Amino acid sequence: MQAAANLGGRLPVPLFDTKTPLAPLRADIDARIAAVLDRGAFILGSEVAAFETEFAAYVGARHAIGVANGTDALTLALRALGVGPGDEVVVPSFTFYASAEAIPPTGASPVFCDVDPDTFCVTAETVRRALTPRTKAVIAVHLFGNVAPVAEIAALGVPVVEDAAQAAGSRSPAGRPGALGAIATFSFFPSKNLGAFGDGGAVTTDDDQLADTVRMLRFHGSRDKTTFELVGHNSRLDELQAAILRVQLPHLEAWSERRRAAGADYEAAGLGELVALPVPVDGTEPAWHLYVIRHEHADALAASLGDAGIGHKAYYRVPAHRQPAMREWAAGAELPVTEEVAGTHLAIPMSPALSREQVDEVVAAVRAFPA
Ligand SMILES: Cc1ncc(COP(=O)(O)O)c(C=O)c1O
Repeated sequence: MQAAANLGGRLPVPLFDTKTPLAPLRADIDARIAAVLDRGAFILGSEVAAFETEFAAYVGARHAIGVANGTDALTLALRALGVGPGDEVVVPSFTFYASAEAIPPTGASPVFCDVDPDTFCVTAETVRRALTPRTKAVIAVHLFGNVAPVAEIAALGVPVVEDAAQAAGSRSPAGRPGALGAIATFSFFPSKNLGAFGDGGAVTTDDDQLADTVRMLRFHGSRDKTTFELVGHNSRLDELQAAILRVQLPHLEAWSERRRAAGADYEAAGLGELVALPVPVDGTEPAWHLYVIRHEHADALAASLGDAGIGHKAYYRVPAHRQPAMREWAAGAELPVTEEVAGTHLAIPMSPALSREQVDEVVAAVRAFPA
């Protein structure tokens, strides 16, 4: 009551809303959790196997392998590609830190590249500038749900690992994120477009050999827990999370449409006259995971939105190459667009539950900001 009174009777609009879309699924989720408890099998059982089949079909890839989280998914995908000591992996700096953090555990070095200011994604040109004879792979991040131009990057002759952590539900003319590169990774962190009730992730690929290696790597480098062929990882999606994800997966398409519709509502409400809107990569249909605008005075705008009860967040003010742990690999990185968008981006409310009324509230609050 107090908050609404302070806002002159207007309702606060949260940055994201994971609860409302899940509410109608609650009874089904409870029943599926109970069924797992009744069976008493919690690791690599029938739920994980079924989820892997269903998720691979959704993505349009031959294989999906459930792993513990989206960060491990990247490390395992890189290792399956043979990335190791002495190699370089090109990665954008304007992304969640984990995209880069996943590289050093393979023994390889991250090489940071720039992004496009309008799409926030890497391009063939930004990647090309970072290639060297030691480049073994490129991580193309489908940032905020946009879809990076994977085919153009692959045409440079280096295998592309798609970091699709934020892009479940997005589409491109060439297929969905997860089916565009040599191998792809997903996170099912709870706030993601498809979110578990804890950590979870997946690797997808059309390549039988890569899939086989990732399956071994997630299971101590073994097929049978008796013979250990590789020094692997213990990194498995668990049965409870898989059961929960299976209830949600049939709804991902409708939720993604709602995200797209909310983006269209922002445009229709005139937000583009006030700030720079995110631009879909040519021909793609992002399921906006985060709706990220740019404004010269982003921090002041953020403060003003906060006063109006509008959720907001600057996700990557300090991009990956400026993080202390990346110092060793960041020397000499010149990333002017990354520096610019790091300072000017701001996520505003986005979720499948965002109503047109809420969009109008957000746009009114942005309009009231004395630019
Ligand atoms: C772009 C990106 N890559 C990787 C990750 C890592 O995923 P996780 O948190 O499941 O390890 C995330 C999300 O957290 C992400 O947003």
